[in-house]
This record gives sequence, C-alpha cells and structure tokens, in this order.
Amino acid sequence: MKINKNIKVAVIGCGYVGLPLALSFGKKFKTFGFDLNLERIKNLKSKYDSNNEFSKQDIKKAKFISFTYNYKDLIGIDYFIITVPTPVNKNNSPSLKHLEESFKMIKKIIKKGSFIILESTVYPGVTRNLALKFIEKNNFKLNNDYYIGYSPERINPGDRVHTIEKITKVVSASDEYALKKIKSLYSSIISAKIFTTKTIEVAEAAKVIENTQRDVNIALINEIELILNKMNINIYEVLEAANTKWNFLNFKPGLVGGHCIGVDPYYLNYIAKKNNYSTKIIKPSREINDSIANILAKRFISNLNKNLNKKKYNILILGFAFKENISDFRNTKILNLINYLQKNNCNCYIYDNNIEIKKAKKIHKLNFIIKPNKDYYDGIFIAVNHKSFKKNILPNLSIYGKSKFIIYDYKNSLNNNKIIFKIEK
Ligand SMILES: NC(=O)c1ccc[n+]([C@@H]2O[C@H](COP(=O)([O-])OP(=O)(O)OC[C@H]3O[C@@H](n4cnc5c(N)ncnc54)[C@H](O)[C@@H]3O)[C@@H](O)[C@H]2O)c1
Repeated sequence: MKINKNIKVAVIGCGYVGLPLALSFGKKFKTFGFDLNLERIKNLKSKYDSNNEFSKQDIKKAKFISFTYNYKDLIGIDYFIITVPTPVNKNNSPSLKHLEESFKMIKKIIKKGSFIILESTVYPGVTRNLALKFIEKNNFKLNNDYYIGYSPERINPGDRVHTIEKITKVVSASDEYALKKIKSLYSSIISAKIFTTKTIEVAEAAKVIENTQRDVNIALINEIELILNKMNINIYEVLEAANTKWNFLNFKPGLVGGHCIGVDPYYLNYIAKKNNYSTKIIKPSREINDSIANILAKRFISNLNKNLNKKKYNILILGFAFKENISDFRNTKILNLINYLQKNNCNCYIYDNNIEIKKAKKIHKLNFIIKPNKDYYDGIFIAVNHKSFKKNILPNLSIYGKSKFIIYDYKNSLNNNKIIFKIEK
C-alpha cells in the first residue's frame, strides 16, 4: 500500500524517542512535533536539541516540520504517534499519567479515520485499554471511526550506528486495514525490515521483554561479581576466560540506571501480579541491580579507611550519565553511589564532560566540576566508560591523585583487570 504524500503526522512528546521520529517524518510529510515543555519547544524552534543528539543542520533537513505546544495546531492530523514518558511511581508501579494526558488531548481533536500509534514502552494491554477508555464514544468506534497501533521504539541514544532508519521496526494494529496503513507509514522512513505482529499485545510484550532480558542478565553478572568479590577473584579475569566459549553471553557488571532497563521490568512485574503471578526472577533481579550502588560505595569506603585512614576524603567521580557516551543522567545510579559516599565522610567532585553541567546543577545540589584538580583526590571512582575519558582523563589519571590514593575502576576502563587499587606517586 502506498502512502499518500499529503498526510499529516503529529509526534506527541519530543524527547529522546520523539525527536528522531518527528525529524524523520518531517523530511517527507507535514509533521508536528508537539511537547508540553515550552522550553523544549522554544529550543527546537530555534533548531537546538538540548539532548545533544541532533545538530542544527540535522534539524534543518526536516523541511516539513513545525514544533508546537498548542494542541489546537493538531486539528486535522491523520497519524498521532505518542512518545511520552512511562516512568514508575515511588512504589515502582507503572505511571501512565503522561499517556492518559495524551489520549485525553487527542480525544478533543481527533477526526474520523485517523490513527493513534503508541511508541512509549508499556505492558501488554495498555494501548487498547487507553483507547477504549479515553477515545471511544457512542458515535466513535474503534476500527470504524479511528484505529490504533503499537510500535515499540528500539533506538539507543548516543548510538550513531543503530539509528532509527536502520533498526527493524515491529508494528501492530487494531485490524488488517490499519496494519497495512501503519506499515506503509513506517516503510516511508525506515529502510530496515518492518516486522508485523498479529496483535497489539504481542508487540507491547516484545518490547517490555527485550529490556527485561537485559536487566536479568546484568543482575546475574552483578550477583556473580558479589560472590567472586567475597573470594577475592577478579570478575574481569573470569569474564575474559568464560567469554572464550562460543555461547557465553557477554554481559558485564553494571549500575543499571536510565528510564528503560531499570524501569520496564517493573511494568512486566506489575502486569504479572495483576494476573496473579508473582515473579521469581524479574523482581529479584531488579532488587539486585538497585542494590549495587550502595554496595560499591561501602567497598570503596572500607578500602579508603584500610589504606589511607583519614577523617575526610576528597573523591573524584568520573561519569554521571547513566551509561557510556550519552548526556542523559536521568535515574543515574551514580547518584545513589555519591549520596552514600557523601554521608560517609567523602566530599565528592563529579566530572562528566558528556553532560550539560548547568542542567545537572539545576536538578542536583552536587559539586559538578569543569576540570579535575591536580594532586587533590584521595580516591577516584571511574563509574562510566565514556570514550572521551579514554582520550583526555584516563591516560593521566595519576596527576589528579594525592601522593597516595585509591582508584576504583568499576568498568575496567583502564583495561588492566585491576578493580580497586592503591597508587603511590
Ligand atoms: N530513551 C530511550 O532510549 C528509549 C528507548 C526506547 C523506548 N523508550 C520509551 O519511549 C518513551 C519516551 O522516552 P524518552 O526517553 O523519549 O522520554 P523523554 O523524557 O526524553 O521525552 C518525553 C517528552 O514527552 C514530553 N511530554 C510529557 N508528557 C507529555 C504530554 N502529555 N504531551 C506532550 N508531551 C509530553 C516531555 O516534556 C518530554 O519532552 C518512554 O516510554 C520510554 O520508556 C525510550
């Protein structure tokens, strides 16, 4: 099925997921990037992406895009694509409030024959339930007056290889007709394969299990690291040896932060519980991963006390983003590590040239620094394996430490399979 060139697309939520999608559609069709965050819209109108994923030139290429925070601009839209956040509440249960707001807004302006496609990560059942709850009216029926679909987003911010056009796109829809239309919509911007699922619920489940699988695998390696550490066996040496087997999975210990892998398993856990199943791997894996930051902090403090025995320590934390080579520090577990250290006689100084310091300072009352001091630190914790550290910071690490200091190379960034060790200058 060929797509009509005159269609109008609206992407609701212009964040890490929404902006790349809106820009891709904006190269082909009249597209609106809609967001409730006025500052974000002002920036995007002036072609500035504060997430540092797109340059001014990239944004300019989307010739048919307009950015707006006025929902009335979306009257007449054919395809609404929702990419708003799906976080968890304080008790780790799913928060669907942004999705609900989006559906309520769409209800006010939706015209007959249009499509609502969800890209936010959810548990199976959410897309259909929200449509039936918020869009359905007596005279407005699913698969008659409007259609729905779900297409999970798989982009990996900061990854310049697996970009939106090159990742196999899973799509699903409320009926055969809608599936054909939604498939041809995505085919117009994606050169990779489009994989269709029989139902919306299958596509929803596929996304949530992808991230749950990663979380569980990292938890397993984190647990193995806890065991090996008690026995003074180096995890990186063990992984190097085990990785020589063809089917050993290459996972490394990690602080699982961000808003996907550390969040999505809670969605699956929630719907399992709703179906009277209490998870025996998924929830405990989350608990292991959530506990790691404090365990690392305790280890570091005990090593500092054993080797340096001071009342106060100056600590340099290298990295604040939730993973390597990105600027995103939302739900970074390094925050937990820092909080624990600060409560236990450590002054922490955080260096991360990938993040926007102004933004970080607005949110966290922490000591973010532009450049580490020389001869100043009792301990250096390498928390993130940024490529930029390899060039600028790691080769001269010794200059930042005092005459005696401790390095905690959590991610084996120095590539010498030492984890915690003392340097004497
Ligand atoms: N970031 C990723 O790597 C990634 C990858 C795959 C899937 N996802 C999923 O995609 C979804 C979006 O994630 P993200 O990282 O892009 O989030 P984000 O926070 O970067 O962007 C979401 C945007 O939505 C806006 N917003 C919130 N409520 C809104 C509303 N009612 N109307 C309009 N705009 C609204 C926010 O202001 C924000 O700009 C989540 O479900 C996430 O789990 C994220």
